[in-house]
Amino acid sequence: MPQHEQPPVTAAPRRAVVTGSAGFIGSHLAHALVQAGTTVIGVDRRDPITEPTAGANLAALRGLPGYHHVTADLLHCAIDPLLIDADAVFHLAGIPGVRPSWGPQFGDYVASNVLATHRVLEACTRIGVPRLVVASSSSVYGPTDGGASVEADRPKPASPYAVTKLAEEQLCLAYAERPIGPSVVALRYFTVYGPRQRADMFTHRALQAALTGQPLRLYGDGHQRRDFTYIDDVVAATIAAAVVPTANGAINVGGGSNASLLEVINIATSLTGRDIQLQQDHARNGDVLLTRADPSRARQVLGWQPRVDLHNGLRAHMQALAAQLPNYSRAA
Ligand code: NAD
Ligand code: UGA
Repeated sequence: MPQHEQPPVTAAPRRAVVTGSAGFIGSHLAHALVQAGTTVIGVDRRDPITEPTAGANLAALRGLPGYHHVTADLLHCAIDPLLIDADAVFHLAGIPGVRPSWGPQFGDYVASNVLATHRVLEACTRIGVPRLVVASSSSVYGPTDGGASVEADRPKPASPYAVTKLAEEQLCLAYAERPIGPSVVALRYFTVYGPRQRADMFTHRALQAALTGQPLRLYGDGHQRRDFTYIDDVVAATIAAAVVPTANGAINVGGGSNASLLEVINIATSLTGRDIQLQQDHARNGDVLLTRADPSRARQVLGWQPRVDLHNGLRAHMQALAAQLPNYSRAA
């Protein structure tokens, strides 16, 4: 096994529900679970038949006997029947993205990230689901002093999105304090990248710009840094969070590849052999200058560590994007 790959999943739930399964992270998680032998009910309000991104995300799962897709909105649908006999619920459904959360869409963020989560928690409690793993976010930390963020740090969310993710996470953890209801692990994912990454995110846009020659809009000076975390590492941590009996509370999922946007641009340029044409734009409200995870708790509690470095991860991401561009050939 190459050193950068996660070891094969050796423990996985027998039966699980993945919300947000037509999304970037949810579709990878559902696929890894099915490969590990889990029967997966995937729930998403995007219909893979009529919505192209959802269809593409779920393409590898189509026809697999272990995967059952339900197109439904968690704000309104009957959730209980979906959860019967589930060993774990992976709650990834939500509205992501920092920058649009300042706009009129804020109501959607509150509805999907907080109110729908409340419905999932109530259903888990009624049905007796033993474990809920919820997708939280590095954004709950807000601006940092340059050091690594530890789960015990006081959160200072800097955007409306981050406020809803903190509310979502804390709501789940409040439910976990009750004598009834699921135990909860809230995974604070740090800027996830890899094949099928959302098209609004930076690494997707940087690689696409390098592959196509279209300009890349850079918000700020490009010196802002992120703990870029590869999708396979995120999936491994997420499955571990469901099966490690003692796991609970908030856990950082990040810490492998801290880099600036300019460094990502350099790697994208060297991988494709093509320069990126930059369009400088002003820094966006709520974007922090740095995220950096302290991964100690993930290592201690989940036995997890990130394995894919930025260069290898971006290469895999770039190859997946290039495969979607029929006329692409490497320039250099
Ligand atoms: P995504 O948009 O690709 O996937 C989210 C999915 O949730 C979508 O398919 C959407 O249709 C679905 N959804 C939203 N509201 C719903 C509802 N009410 N009912 C049913 N389905 C609904 O986003 P992603 O990047 O895969 O992120 C998944 C989760 O991880 C989100 O909760 C996000 O906040 C969190 N997260 C993502 C990152 C990242 O870097 N991608 C980092 C930190 C946290
Ligand atoms: C990402 C996800 O989008 C959030 O859903 C998630 O919650 C968050 O990670 C997290 O770690 O918790 P973000 O770090 O803002 O949020 O990731 P990107 O959207 O990829 O943006 C990274 C940086 O690139 C930001 O400074 C942004 O302003 C910049 N950027 C983004 C650009 O300069 N140009 C673009 O076209 C897009």
